[in-house]
Amino acid sequence: MSTPITLQVNRMRQDVSVPKETTLLHVLRNDLALNSPKYGCGLGECGACTVLVDGIAARACVIPAHGVAGRSVTTLEGLGTLAALHPVQQAFIDEQAAQCGYCLSGVVMMTVALLSRVPHPTDAQIRSELSGNLCRCGAHLEIIKAVHRAACYLEHPAAQCAAQPPQAVSAA
Ligand code: FES
Repeated sequence: MSTPITLQVNRMRQDVSVPKETTLLHVLRNDLALNSPKYGCGLGECGACTVLVDGIAARACVIPAHGVAGRSVTTLEGLGTLAALHPVQQAFIDEQAAQCGYCLSGVVMMTVALLSRVPHPTDAQIRSELSGNLCRCGAHLEIIKAVHRAACYLEHPAAQCAAQPPQAVSAA
């Protein structure tokens, strides 16, 4: 049986009516046509569905939509626009930190959450934070470089942010 809820998604009020067990990921993709959060495992293990709930990274595939009623949900679509990308999005482009792109939305959202708590993370902190976001392509070193670049973009004009090599050379 469907019951109505109101969500705040990307700063807009959204009224939907769904069963209690419907996941946030299902509502975002199927009811609101927000396709950046991806369905990977459906078990909270791969990170492809990562969004922000009240600014904290969360796995949308295991969160009931009713559980976040009234709370602020942000997807990749809510970060920036094509004309004005979010600094983290720009950093990932500039470091070419994507191959197939399936995991990328989740990685970017995790990065936004990380940098909001730790403005200058070490390689070890980045690896730890992103260890739950599975990427099968192997863009791992570029992802670490992109997080460092994003940290710089959030504080300085882009022209001041030279490419920053990762502190360690092994893959995440
Ligand atoms: Fe949600 Fe894998 S689809 S963690």
